[in-house]
Amino acid sequence: MSGHGTPIPMTSHRADALTGVAEVPGDKSISHRSLILGAMAVGETKISGLLEGEDVLDTAKAMQAFGAEVLNHGGGNWSVFGVGVGGFAEPDNVIDCGNSGTGVRLIMGTMATSPITVTFTGDASLNKRPMARVTDPLALFGAQAVGRSGGRLPMTIVGAADPVPVRYVVPVPSAQVKSAVLLAGLNAPGQTVVIEQEATRDHTERMLEGFGAEISTEETDEGRVITLAGRPELKPQVIAVPRDPSSAAFPVCAALITPGSDVLVPGIGLNPTRAGLFTTLREMGADLTYENERIEGGEPVADLRAKYSPDMKGIEVPPERAASMIDEYPVLSVVASFATGETMMAGVKELRVKESDRIDAMARGLRANGVAVREGEDWWAVTGLGPDGVPGGGTCESFLDHRIAMSFMVMGMAAQKPVSVDDGGPIATSFPIFEPLMTALGAKFTHE
Ligand code: S3P
Repeated sequence: MSGHGTPIPMTSHRADALTGVAEVPGDKSISHRSLILGAMAVGETKISGLLEGEDVLDTAKAMQAFGAEVLNHGGGNWSVFGVGVGGFAEPDNVIDCGNSGTGVRLIMGTMATSPITVTFTGDASLNKRPMARVTDPLALFGAQAVGRSGGRLPMTIVGAADPVPVRYVVPVPSAQVKSAVLLAGLNAPGQTVVIEQEATRDHTERMLEGFGAEISTEETDEGRVITLAGRPELKPQVIAVPRDPSSAAFPVCAALITPGSDVLVPGIGLNPTRAGLFTTLREMGADLTYENERIEGGEPVADLRAKYSPDMKGIEVPPERAASMIDEYPVLSVVASFATGETMMAGVKELRVKESDRIDAMARGLRANGVAVREGEDWWAVTGLGPDGVPGGGTCESFLDHRIAMSFMVMGMAAQKPVSVDDGGPIATSFPIFEPLMTALGAKFTHE
C-alpha cells in the first residue's frame, strides 16, 4: 500500500490501572521471512500466527507477484506454495512495499540473483529511506540498480543473470542488509560470506537453517562470520510465528507508568538479539518479571508480567545493546520521562533512518508534552520528571511512523493532560489490534 489515506487523529487520556492479558500479534520480522522463505522453498509452507499488518500483507502480495501461491486460511493461518530458489518469475507490475523497509530490502535481496527486472516503490516514508546500503552489496553479485537521487525508491533492479558469490562486511548494524545479502546468496553458486561487527537479529540465519540451507555462524576477531552455501533446495516448513517483543513493548511500558497496573503479556520471544528493552527496563527498576520461561521452536520464550513501577531511575543504556532494542527506543524514551533522572541513549545513529528520524520525531513530541530532551547525531538523552510529573497536553506528529504514534498513545495514559497524535493510521502497519488490545486493558483513546 502506498500512503495511509486520510489521517486518523488519536488522543490518549489518563487511564486508571491497566489490568488483564495482552495477547500481542505475531513477530513482524519472522512473518516477513516466513513468507519470503516459503516462496523460495519447493512445496507448501504452513504458517500460523502470521502478523496480518499492512507491512506483512504487502510482502504476501509481492510473493504472489513473483509466482508463489499464497493462501490466507483465516485466523493467522497461511500457506505458501513456493517456486524454489531461482524460480522467481518477473512481476507484471511495480512491487509496492508500502511502509516496510524490511519488506523491500529483503525482497530486493531475494530477486537480485535472478534474471528478472523489478521496480519497487513505497509510501512517502519508505521512498525517503536509504536503499544504497542494500543495492551496494547486491551490485557485487552482479545486480544493477537505478533509483532516484540518494539511492531512494522508486527504484528498478536488474537481477544478475550470472551471479557470483560475495564476501561482504556489513558497514552498518542492520539485520535487513545482512538478510538481503544472505537471501541473494541463496541463488549464487558457491559460498556467500557476510560479516557483521555488531550482532543484529538472527532470524534469517535461524530460519534458513530450518529450511535446510547449509549455513554456519562463527564468532571471530572480525565479528560474526556467516557462511551460506548457494543453490540449496529449501524444504517447506511448518512455522508457528512467536508473538512480537517489539509489540509487547507497548502494553509492558504502559503498565509500568500507569498507577495500579498489572498486565500479563504471554508468549514473548526473548531471543537475545531482540530482548534488550526488557533488560534495560529491569535495570531502571521496573517491576517486570519473566514467568513460565520455556523454549519454543528453538527460541527462549516467557510470559512477561509488568506492574506499575513508580521508582524507576534514569540510566545510561549501553551502546552495544542498541541493535537488540533498536525499534524500542521511542517507547523507552516515554518510560524515561516518568523515571527520576536522565536516561542517556548513545550509539543509536540508525534511529535517524527508520520509518521516520526517530530521534527527531520523539524529541519534538516529548518537548511538546513538557519533557526536556538533549540530542546529537547518534545519541539523545531524556530528563525524567518522575512518576506523576509529565505535563502532557501536546499534539505530536507521527511522521508516518507506527512506533512514534503508539509511543505517544502510551505517554497519554499516565501524563497529567491528554496526549494527541496527528495520525494513528500507520499503527496498522505492525500492530493492527493495538487500539482494541490497549482499550481492553483500560486505555482511553478518542479520535479527535
Ligand atoms: C528488521 C531489522 C531492523 C528493524 C526493523 C526490522 C528486520 O532494521 O528496525 O524493524 O526484520 O530485519 P535494520 O536492519 O535497518 O536495523
